[in-house]
Amino acid sequence: MGAARRVLVRTYGCQMNVHDSEKVTNLLLHQGYVPTAALDDADLLVINTCSIREKAEHHLYSDLGLLREWKRARAGRVLAVGGCVAQQEGEALLRRFGQVDFVFGTHNLRWVGVMAEAARRGRRDARVEESASLERFDLPARHPDFEGFGAGRAFVTVMEGCDMFCSFCIVPRTRGREISRPAPAIVAEVEDLAARGVREVALLGQTVNAYGRHDLRRERSRSARGAAAPEVETVGFGALLRRLARVPGIARIRYTSPHPLFFDDDLVRAHAELGTLCPHVHLPVQSGSDTVLARMRRRYTRERFLGMVRELRAARPDIALTSDLIVGFPGESDADFRDTLALVEEVGFVDSYSFKYSPRPGTAAAELGDPVAPEVAQARLEELQALQRGLTWAAHRARVGQRTEVLVAGESRRGGGQLSGRDPYHRVVNFEAPRDGGVAPGQLAPVTVVEATPHSLIGRLDGLGGREALKPGAPGADGEVRIDGIPSLS
Ligand code: SAH
Ligand code: SF4
Ligand code: F3S
Repeated sequence: MGAARRVLVRTYGCQMNVHDSEKVTNLLLHQGYVPTAALDDADLLVINTCSIREKAEHHLYSDLGLLREWKRARAGRVLAVGGCVAQQEGEALLRRFGQVDFVFGTHNLRWVGVMAEAARRGRRDARVEESASLERFDLPARHPDFEGFGAGRAFVTVMEGCDMFCSFCIVPRTRGREISRPAPAIVAEVEDLAARGVREVALLGQTVNAYGRHDLRRERSRSARGAAAPEVETVGFGALLRRLARVPGIARIRYTSPHPLFFDDDLVRAHAELGTLCPHVHLPVQSGSDTVLARMRRRYTRERFLGMVRELRAARPDIALTSDLIVGFPGESDADFRDTLALVEEVGFVDSYSFKYSPRPGTAAAELGDPVAPEVAQARLEELQALQRGLTWAAHRARVGQRTEVLVAGESRRGGGQLSGRDPYHRVVNFEAPRDGGVAPGQLAPVTVVEATPHSLIGRLDGLGGREALKPGAPGADGEVRIDGIPSLS
């Protein structure tokens, strides 16, 4: 037998894609592949693509150009394309790019091993059929050599797909229809992760808080017809969170990305009641103008969004909110843009990602006239980002003096031997720790914020042994203690 084949998985796009790449890596480990970080060493290169904006899609095309040489340099190398561009383009990628060996869509991850083997025997293929079944979640358990994206943390898929069809967005076309995993499978996965030392789970879904809604509706109509109850109990997102909060060892639960429309009373209450549910919600608003929101088909108004923010803050006063925004949507006037600026300021987002609108093939907005001039969109983007920088820094300064808890990810990028991780509000905190001080990646460390920078917080480690010595249920354990919050900046 020759040396083990080496695989490199390159990922673009959102956390869903990062997690899909983890699934692909895990699957290939089970097939005997060994992951490598060096392109030169790789026998199989998988590019997991994103098509949310034109720029993201272009990453693939420039990669593919450069990879012609990589393929030629060693016989037997295999190049695969997966993810959202793969789903969108399918076979066309094989026709356009002779260097691509196989293409797999977002519902076809489980075929990667089989397709890689076939490709080694010279078979070029594309599998992008959409599936409405739960089969796609049947993936192998974690391989002993699998290393996830972060120490002590793990992603867990709870639902996939999107039925919202916002007019600007390609995702319903690349990820297909909404489908929720049965709760028992999610609970079992989280229990298994906890047993492996995971302290924080991030629940993933394109509209994650829509979890279970189709199943609940189907079940209601079944029981109205007098049909027998299904074998697996169907629950909504709030109930799922409550169930996961009871898994021993799990200290933090996050979720991303929720849609503003699906914050029901139960989910809002969960933020008041569950100590393990992190006081941070990433809540994409896209625009602060009702006319733009209507043309975006977001299905809420500015007032409804603000009402929801008020409810969340009533439930959890210290909650940190972050968001996504689009500028330069077709027809966006200066007054519309001012409404967006005003909303960002009123809510006081702790952070936000903002993007210039990019028309996507097949979406409703791509058919709208009235484009915003590129230089106008650029100027708006810069103005919005300048506003956000000010809000972020102010939110960071307001944290100085507070105690918090950091899930240590590893050494800080700032160097100097500092450790770095995130606090419950999802802020990056860097702090000094003695080399042999017993604070290791994957652990929770008690820290006091001593300084704010525009992008992160600087902390000081509080009495060593503190956090890890705490017993579950003791004050300060598992996020039970409410830490003084980030004040609303409105
Ligand atoms: N499911 C999430 C969004 C996922 S896409 C939600 O509904 O909120 C991530 C972000 O990309 C979006 O929130 C949006 O701000 C941005 N985005 C999506 N399509 C875009 C487009 N065509 N042009 C520019 N930004 C876009
Ligand atoms: Fe895209 Fe809208 Fe679905 Fe979010 S909710 S993924 S923006 S279509
Ligand atoms: Fe991109 Fe697909 Fe995620 S388009 S943002 S990788 S769902």
